[in-house]
Amino acid sequence: MITGELLGIDAVRSRLATSLVGRQLHVFGDVDSTNTKLRALARSGAPAGTVVLAEGQTAGRGRHGQEWFSPSGVNLYASVLFRPVLHPREVAVFSFIASLALVDTIKDAGASPGIKWPNDILVGGKKVAGVLVECATRGEAIDYVILGVGVNLNVDPEVLRTALGPAGGFATSLAAVTGREIDRNGFVAAYLNHLDAWYQAWQSQGPQPVLTRWADFDILTGRRVQVRGHGGRIEGRARGLNAHGALVVEDPLGRRHALTDEEVRLAD
Ligand code: BTN
Repeated sequence: MITGELLGIDAVRSRLATSLVGRQLHVFGDVDSTNTKLRALARSGAPAGTVVLAEGQTAGRGRHGQEWFSPSGVNLYASVLFRPVLHPREVAVFSFIASLALVDTIKDAGASPGIKWPNDILVGGKKVAGVLVECATRGEAIDYVILGVGVNLNVDPEVLRTALGPAGGFATSLAAVTGREIDRNGFVAAYLNHLDAWYQAWQSQGPQPVLTRWADFDILTGRRVQVRGHGGRIEGRARGLNAHGALVVEDPLGRRHALTDEEVRLAD
């Protein structure tokens, strides 16, 4: 299903005001996964700022090995390459940079987003976008980081429900919440502009401004949550981020757990 205009290199590039992001821009029809495409480009020496966009994905990947439903011609599937000087344990900040760029862009489009740690973007309690951060290391250092985002822009929520089953009831699209079709070229250009700005802010000021702004959109802090992860199950209250970007959850005995990659659900 195709709605509106196809993605176009010129339509995106003419709206970019970035210093790094979009230095190279590749637009594909259907690919397996934009992250996988970009990984191949990164391995053959693509520069930082390279962007891969696709109309659709046949093997879109989400966090925790889940699939990302990626119908053609309606949504955004974008991956951006960075080559930061960074220790692998600091890479989490990239997921916050991407989620802030997404909330800025979604606000520009007229909706009011929140972020469910670490980087699910929700509008009205339903997920509209997700972020998949993948990286390669060389010894103790990061070689490259790939920031992949998927945004449900114009997909019909009914199609989401059919494709995702019960989970589809917790997902929606930006068109459904704003009541108008979203111009994908304009949306992706705005996202890349915001991403570049947050990346530059992190480079010049470090992680604190990113973590502070992220907290403004955090929907979990103070709420009761259930956690499923490597250490089993925990129930407790979310207490915000620590300095490294881990989510702190306090259990009923007052013990604090710092989560880095677990699955968290609202319990109330
Ligand atoms: C999640 O919420 O689970 C993360 C979803 C990330 C999906 C995007 S779509 C573009 C990029 N390519 C992929 O295969 N995955 C990410």
